[in-house]
Amino acid sequence: MTPEEFVKESGLLLGYDELRRVHDAMRAAMLRGLSHGDGCLRMIPAYVPPVSSPPPGEVIAIDAGGTNVRAAVVRFREGEEPIVEGMVRDGLPGADGEPVDGETFFARLAALVASLERPGLPLGFVFSYPTRILPDRDGILLRWTKEVRARDVEGARVGTGLSRALEEHFGVRTPSVTVLNDTVAALAAASTKLSGTGGAIGLIVGTGCNMAYFERTAAITKLSAEEAGPPEQAINMESGNFDGLPMTVFDHGLDESSEDPGRQRFEKQVAGRYLGELTRRVLRGAVGRGAVPPSVGRELAEPWRLETAHVAALLSEPARFEGPLAHVAPSEQAAVRLLARAVVTRAARLVAAGLSSVIDHLGLAAAPVAIVAEGTMYWKMPGFRQKVEETLDELTPPLGGSPRFVMLRIEDANMLGAGVAALS
Ligand code: GLC
Repeated sequence: MTPEEFVKESGLLLGYDELRRVHDAMRAAMLRGLSHGDGCLRMIPAYVPPVSSPPPGEVIAIDAGGTNVRAAVVRFREGEEPIVEGMVRDGLPGADGEPVDGETFFARLAALVASLERPGLPLGFVFSYPTRILPDRDGILLRWTKEVRARDVEGARVGTGLSRALEEHFGVRTPSVTVLNDTVAALAAASTKLSGTGGAIGLIVGTGCNMAYFERTAAITKLSAEEAGPPEQAINMESGNFDGLPMTVFDHGLDESSEDPGRQRFEKQVAGRYLGELTRRVLRGAVGRGAVPPSVGRELAEPWRLETAHVAALLSEPARFEGPLAHVAPSEQAAVRLLARAVVTRAARLVAAGLSSVIDHLGLAAAPVAIVAEGTMYWKMPGFRQKVEETLDELTPPLGGSPRFVMLRIEDANMLGAGVAALS
């Protein structure tokens, strides 16, 4: 069997009709999540309204992503572009396979904040996991995703955890903590640049994958009057958990070997935490079907050995074969690239299908929906964002000559958005 035949047989190719089905199922799940809060999309209200111009001031932004933590001071001055200063970084505790306890988790984050030596500033805490946000802007972690393991944090208030650790270990008192998702932070950063657009989406495709958008609070019918918050606010969809999509044997295998089988099915097909492992499974499957020779699979027996960075390297121009693929013979490299490209293309097409459901949910506004995207998969995986945009054109073609979406690029969107949210 040729590699092309293998790709066809594997179910990795998603045509227009399959993507439309994903689109329809996601729209239905969005409505369900807004009205009932159950089902695969949590649709979590963030209590963060669109802000066209944040008030002047300074905040500390801390961004606990899926792999790293970053902290910096963000400064807003009237009539000037905001500034992100003194960025410091650390690995995310619990993300490297070594479990930590909650105490250690927050102490490490607090150490990073304290190292900025700016006590007394409000905190914008970008915490990128399914977290129920409370009207006071603290948040309760519902469950870890992206394979992170930190004990005793699920069910706890994470803003309080961080401010308590700052006080206990560093004697620093924090005036306020605003907890927000990374998608919401990206959206908040975009909200200062939205004039002339018909709504906005914050998209992350990094270690994980998720979307947020601004919703009318009246449409979030699961909220009681006391819980309602501002008339328009960001919704963290937690779309990584969407499950209305076709699954191949490789997806089932990966899901079963993950920390949270049955969950985050969309994310496991598209995000950086999983794409290397998924590609490894596809390559092994191709060896099994004689589509590539056994030598290709020699160093791929061990689960999670192939990283998404290795996939990015082999899809680069010129291609670099690294890690467990370092010994692939030149004569086999084209086939390996074709298989890896199929996995990455499927991911990009699914991300576009997700975006198209939100664009359609926002309605047929005369102005295009602004999409602000963050994340290493989106920006660093060769060909990825081009494929997302091309597929999105296919799924939401221009209407009466006007485009349905525009892509916004905002440098440091998460840090700026944390600042915007914490000040408003
Ligand atoms: C995972 C998290 C989600 C986050 C996304 C991107 O899906 O559950 O909260 O936004 O990763 O980082």
